[in-house]
Amino acid sequence: MASNNGASSGVPTSNISSNSMSSAFDGMTTLLKTGTAESVELAKEQYDSQSKEYKESKVAPWRTEVEMDTVARLLSLLGGVEGKSVIDLACGDGHYTRWLKEHQGASKVLGVDLSPGMIQLAEEQEQANPLGLKYICRDAGTLDQHAGVDIVFAAFLLNYASNEEELLKLVTTIYNILPKGGKFGTIQNSVHDVTCHHPELRKYGFEKTCEQPGVEGATIKYHFYQGSDLTCTIDNYFLSRSTYERVFRRAGFSNIGFVSFSVSDKGLNGYPEGYWDELLDARCIEGIFALKY
Ligand SMILES: C[S@@+](CC[C@H](N)C(=O)[O-])C[C@H]1O[C@@H](n2cnc3c(N)ncnc32)[C@H](O)[C@@H]1O
Repeated sequence: MASNNGASSGVPTSNISSNSMSSAFDGMTTLLKTGTAESVELAKEQYDSQSKEYKESKVAPWRTEVEMDTVARLLSLLGGVEGKSVIDLACGDGHYTRWLKEHQGASKVLGVDLSPGMIQLAEEQEQANPLGLKYICRDAGTLDQHAGVDIVFAAFLLNYASNEEELLKLVTTIYNILPKGGKFGTIQNSVHDVTCHHPELRKYGFEKTCEQPGVEGATIKYHFYQGSDLTCTIDNYFLSRSTYERVFRRAGFSNIGFVSFSVSDKGLNGYPEGYWDELLDARCIEGIFALKY
């Protein structure tokens, strides 16, 4: 019963025009706005101390066959990124930055991340296998200028906001970076997962737990395993769907849509029937998109 079960609303299918981004990379590196929140500092610390371990978690089958399949579907609902200029916010070690350029045909991709350790990993991989990617080490909430990009992508960024105002700061930044007609897509903690507590996901190599399910700002913990070894633990925060919808409206976006997890053909064919059921049923992570009109 593991099947593609995407649910989305207000899905746009037309491509937007491609802006030239000749100075975007250089311009972006000089943009700074305000200071950093405590939750941002915490995220920096967590990733600096666990950057390699987190990177290793990205090769687990649920990542490659479910998370990435969902991202590919999300981007295709937005018209794809082929020939487009993209900013990958919270790029981490450049996992999606590389994929957007190499496998999805983006013309330019700029990766931005808060963690020097993560950016170092990204740059090492760019040096070993140059793809023409640029990276900057910066709090995404401090970027403040339209940089001529077509699409802002962010995997697991907004879930670092621990309250409405922090979320608004990030979403407003994204809105301001985009031109009219620009598109935003992300994958992250699902606002529909009110339970937020999924020890049953251990069979896939991770667990999501929360001591205050459904409470605004509650800490969500992701524990990643290799075999029986716990390799890394990451904190995110729960904010409700209504908070997300309100914040996107306050920032200026006219709509917000949600995309459920889906499983790739390889994932469906390569595992026993029903293997992905607990993951799909948990609805622990989802895609979100928004358009700037
Ligand atoms: C779960 S990792 C995801 C990395 C990458 N997007 C991926 O999917 O592989 C989250 C990343 O968000 C970064 N991050 C958290 N808050 C940030 C902020 N305010 N600005 C920039 N990066 C941030 C962390 O440093 C970390 O690398």
